[in-house]
Amino acid sequence: MERGCLTLVRPLPKQSPPLLTRGRREVEMSPSEPPDDRRATNDRPMVAQTIVFSEVDVVREGRSALEAVSLTLAEHRIGIVGLNGSGKSTLLKAIVGLVRPTGGRITVDGRDAIAEARAVRATTGFLFQDPDNQIVFPIVAEDLAFGLKNHGFDRRETAARVAAALDRLGIGGFAKRRIHELSGGEKQLVALAGVLALGPKTVLFDEPTSQLDLRNRNRLEDVLRVMPEQAIVVAHDLELLADFDRVIVMEAGRVVADDRPARALAVYRERAA
Ligand SMILES: Nc1ncnc2c1ncn2[C@@H]1O[C@H](COP(=O)(O)OP(=O)(O)O)[C@@H](O)[C@H]1O
Ligand SMILES: [Mg+2]
Repeated sequence: MERGCLTLVRPLPKQSPPLLTRGRREVEMSPSEPPDDRRATNDRPMVAQTIVFSEVDVVREGRSALEAVSLTLAEHRIGIVGLNGSGKSTLLKAIVGLVRPTGGRITVDGRDAIAEARAVRATTGFLFQDPDNQIVFPIVAEDLAFGLKNHGFDRRETAARVAAALDRLGIGGFAKRRIHELSGGEKQLVALAGVLALGPKTVLFDEPTSQLDLRNRNRLEDVLRVMPEQAIVVAHDLELLADFDRVIVMEAGRVVADDRPARALAVYRERAA
């Protein structure tokens, strides 16, 4: 087994195709992007995929983790909130085939999340709650470069992408740092840089600010505000979602509200009280 596979499979079930985050293997990146006349501040075109859940059920250990979930996710920034155990992580993982529906179907731009998981993961990055699941190499720049090389980028393109991804998050100074000397929050930013460097259309974030101090949390908020990629963000940090396009409230595996942030978050606050 090649070295990267070891970490590749850490968060993945056996035999899974690679995941964009750490999966970093022979996945082809699509050069085409859907037309969109909006522009992000960095002047890259905004991109989004259409993710469709059709009557999706997930049963885990005899209990229902998702129940009859039907959603079409096409907005640029979507938040997902809900109490612990309400199915938020399950919902995100199912998009990239890390959790298999026991009923119904999920597609990403028409590709089946299970049967075509490899293609889905080529355009859909995942930022795990625990950055240790995503970091392979001891030095920051080496870690990012590893993923890019596995995706077939040459040395020059790899170096340029590593530098751009770190700069974009304001952590250009981390390039030569040793990962194990970084704080949890700093590691989270490195993991995100590794995801972004691969050029996904969509990034799935599972509680990205839970380990971040206020400065790094604000940095992430700024990144989310301008990133041209679609972002689907599970968060308990409700303020982070306040200017999103849409917020979905989960409860016991079901969608109980799906609305503009102010209205959806009000529902969540009321139901959580
Ligand atoms: N690996 C797993 N195996 C079995 N059940 C799980 C696993 N992960 C989560 N669950 C169950 O699935 C349900 C939804 O969990 P999860 O999606 O992690 O919720 P959330 O992210 O909203 O806290 C919970 O009942 C949880 O106990
Ligand atoms: Mg979770």
